[in-house]
Order: sequence, then C-alpha cells, then structure tokens
Amino acid sequence: MSMIDAETLRHWLDTGKPVIVLDVRSAADRAAWAIPGSLHVDAYADLKAHNTHALDSISLPDDVPVITVCNAGHVSKTACELLKARGINASSLEGGMRSWSLSWNTADVPLPGSKAQVIQIRRVGKGCLSYLIGSEKEAVVIDASLAPEVYLNIARSHSWSITAVLDTHIHADHLSRSRLLAEQSGATVYLPNQERVMYAFTPLLHGSIIKVGKASLMVIQTPGHTAESMSYLLDRQALFTGDTLFLQGVGRPDLHATTEETRSYAQVLYHSLHHHLLLLPARTLVLPGHTNTPTPFDKVPLMASLGDLRNQVELLRLSESEFVDALVARIPPVPPNHERIIGLNEAGKLIENPIELEAGANNCAIA
Ligand SMILES: [Fe+2]
Repeated sequence: MSMIDAETLRHWLDTGKPVIVLDVRSAADRAAWAIPGSLHVDAYADLKAHNTHALDSISLPDDVPVITVCNAGHVSKTACELLKARGINASSLEGGMRSWSLSWNTADVPLPGSKAQVIQIRRVGKGCLSYLIGSEKEAVVIDASLAPEVYLNIARSHSWSITAVLDTHIHADHLSRSRLLAEQSGATVYLPNQERVMYAFTPLLHGSIIKVGKASLMVIQTPGHTAESMSYLLDRQALFTGDTLFLQGVGRPDLHATTEETRSYAQVLYHSLHHHLLLLPARTLVLPGHTNTPTPFDKVPLMASLGDLRNQVELLRLSESEFVDALVARIPPVPPNHERIIGLNEAGKLIENPIELEAGANNCAIA
C-alpha cells in the first residue's frame, strides 16, 4: 500500500509540486472542511461497500501523483487500491483529514515602511490564524495554535529569537500552544488580565505596550467575544483582532455566557467595535484570529483594511439594538468539546494527541 503523511503532502502543496488530491468523503463531511484545491468524488458509501466500480466515474491522469483522502485514512486505502489497479500513481493520506488538521502554510503581510515584518501562519487544517512579528533580532507570536517548532523554525530562518508570546483571549476551539512555545523559546507569556488562567503569565491591560525590536504592540481591550478579549495594534498600522473582528463577521458572544448574558456580551462587543476598533484610521490593516474556509497554498495573506470591512461587513453597519438582535438570532452551533478545551487552556495543559479534541468545523464567527 502506498501511503503519504500529512507533512509530506503539506510540503508538496507548499512547494507547488504537481499533485491531485482526491477527497472520497461524503458531501456533508467535505462541506465541513476540505483540503484546498482538492477534487471530490462522493464515493464513500460505495468504497465502504467494496464496490470495485466506485471510482469509475472519475478520470485522472496517470502521470501526476494522486492522493486519496477520507476522514481517518481507512476508506482512502480502498480508493487508492482501485486507482492503482487502473495504472494511476496513487497514495493514501495516512490518518486522513484528522492528520491534516495540523497542516499549515504562511503568507507575508505587506506593511510598507514598517519597522516590523509580519508573517501570517495559517493552520489550513482547521482555520486558526497565528502571527509571527519580527523586528531587528526579536519576534513576537500571537495566538500560537501549532507545534512550537513551526514558529521556532520560521523565526530561526529570519534570525529572530522569540521574546514574547501573546494570546488574544482564552480560546475555545483549539488548545493554545503559547505556554509550550514560551517554555521552548524562553519567551515571556503575555495574556489579557483575568483570573481564569492558572499558570504564571504577565497580565496585559488596556494601553499596555509590548516592544519587539524597533516596533511596538499596543493593547486595546475589546471584550465581547469573551470578557478578557484584547486586540493588538502594531505601530498604528496592523490590528490583530483575534476573535473580535473577522473578515466576514464578528466573534460569537455566547461561549462563556448564559442565554441571558449573551445579549449583554453582544452589547459589550458592539461597544468594543464601535468605540475602539472602528475609531482607528480606515487604512488600518485587520488581521483576524480565524478564517472559516480552508486557506489555499497561495501565499496571499488573509487581511482587509478597516475601511473596507466597515463597508463590507453588514453587521458593522447596524445600530446597537439591531446588532444585538442579529447576533442572538444567528448564534452558530457550539464548537465540539469547547468546555474541555477552555479548561485545558485555563490550566495551560496540552494533551498528547489533540487532533480528536480539536476536530470539527470552526464556529467562532457570526456573519
Ligand atoms: Fe475564540
């Protein structure tokens, strides 16, 4: 059996190697999340039933590697065998979409004239966005969601040492890797001031400044998605909004609230958006903490100016009462396992294999 691991496939896609990714899952599974650029054949039931004609409908070249993908890497093996019998250079993705969850790519964020360089690190297997900000010999990481070596290797390739790690809030959809990254890099952990996290950290207050080389990050308190949520403004140019403001919507206000509290959290979010973030210059570049679609391997950063978002995001044009009503009416399903994930993030603990715990679509946003 020919197998390929997720890291090798990630590397192939990142380096532009010709490869066809063939997703053999059901349409419903594919709709939740997929590998960017992959083809789809809805053959899951037929493959499970060992129907040898399950893939007859799809024509594939025999001179390009084809990688078959399913949820956990079992049914994709059957698909791989069928394709190999047709003379196609096929392999099966080991561990399927579960292993893909930790895949990532990067994009440089253009900041003309800036004293800092910003790299957007996209966890394409899940939709979490983290950031490496380097200036002179120092670097800061915001919202680390991948293994420390990802950030350490990129920093090393730019001759930066990571001196600070920050989270925008206590996450509910993935385990924060910030504490571990700080342990491995010797960096200081900065977190929004709150009394839930049980390990040692340096608390951030509204107006706090974090220096990185010749650049600086200013802390803006933006509660609403969670009580402690903060946004970070780099040199009045780039705004890291975490889950407060996305490119298509805003953060959900309900994850730490009872049903009655959700309305007041939505009001607080409105205040954070309109009395803090939207008062910044329209040219300010917004760099959010999540995306709700798989990010292509195109090196194009996910970003927008505050002025463009003000025009494009319908929720930002509503009055306070309309905004609160709209948010409450559009609350999406809660992320799976969010209570356990919050508990682990408060304790600063990671588990050996987080993939199962973190599985599921990204549901942080309301659009
Ligand atoms: Fe969040």
